[in-house]
Amino acid sequence: MNQHLKNEGLSVNLAGLKLANPTMLASGILGLSAESLSSIVDGGAGAVVTKSVGLKPRRGYANPTVVQVDCGLVNAVGLPNPGISEFVKEIQEAKKTFDVPIVVSVYGFSAEEYASVAERAVEAGADAVELNVSCPHVKETGLEIGQNPKVLAEVVSKVKNSVKKPVFVKLSPNVTDISEVAAVAVKADADAVTAVNTVKAMVIDTETATPILSNRTGGLSGPAVKPVAVRCVYEIYETVDVPIIGCGGVTDWRDAVELLLAGASAVQIGTAVALKGPRVFKEVTRGVSAYLKRKGFKSVGEIVGLSHRK
Ligand SMILES: Cc1cc2nc3c(=O)[nH]c(=O)nc-3n(C[C@H](O)[C@H](O)[C@H](O)COP(=O)(O)O)c2cc1C
Repeated sequence: MNQHLKNEGLSVNLAGLKLANPTMLASGILGLSAESLSSIVDGGAGAVVTKSVGLKPRRGYANPTVVQVDCGLVNAVGLPNPGISEFVKEIQEAKKTFDVPIVVSVYGFSAEEYASVAERAVEAGADAVELNVSCPHVKETGLEIGQNPKVLAEVVSKVKNSVKKPVFVKLSPNVTDISEVAAVAVKADADAVTAVNTVKAMVIDTETATPILSNRTGGLSGPAVKPVAVRCVYEIYETVDVPIIGCGGVTDWRDAVELLLAGASAVQIGTAVALKGPRVFKEVTRGVSAYLKRKGFKSVGEIVGLSHRK
């Protein structure tokens, strides 16, 4: 492996997870099999997050489910996944294949479902779970849970009581005050928060005058979302005291550094993997490393939240 990617100064301790570098795969991109996760590890990711998995298999929505726009992607895939009973095989296989931390993204339609999926993911070898309480396009899960403080607290507490591994909570930018939601998650004992999931969006075909996505609305990801993610991470950093994982529009090292300066301890990359391939992790890590060297910093930790200096 490239020396940069093993450099001590690049390593990150994320609520007990040890990452060799601060880049992670975001949920939903190449995260449904041990084989595809392995290609991401080969690309240099410090950790991987799986596609969100639920209690039962789900087919997801009919095509079209993803539309490319000028500034990123708008998707409403509808959480297609094989269900946790099938997916445990992929987790077990992934654990045999590589040794970077694997975070299993979990969704449910009740606190009990979240807890039961999380428990089975951890039994199969997950190093942490990330609760998807922010998917903007499936009814009665995701954002509908993340927008409701009482339900969110119940989901996080139940999962925390069910697993002994770190629990990350992935937040939505589609709320009035994301730092309030982060505070609810942390009060319920979340070990870290991930910010952010996609921004609610829509694309209409001007010739046919109809919405393009079969679900009509979806979530925007990619470069357009980065300034939103930077603002969300910045606000959360001012409010809570757990590690923040920045996510949204990271395409190159400068985007990653911006999120770190806003207060993220690590960054997830999704859309850029779909557009550039797994090499994006090595590229970003090399760039972050060169930035630290050029600015005279010895470790990534030294720049986390640096933009908050008064
Ligand atoms: C096609 C697609 C599928 C996604 N599926 C999930 C998912 O299953 N669970 C989840 O928490 N986020 C999901 N996301 C959101 C990403 O993990 C990420 O939060 C978002 O895309 C912003 O990061 P990016 O700009 O680097 O893609 C998905 C995004 C895309 C583009």
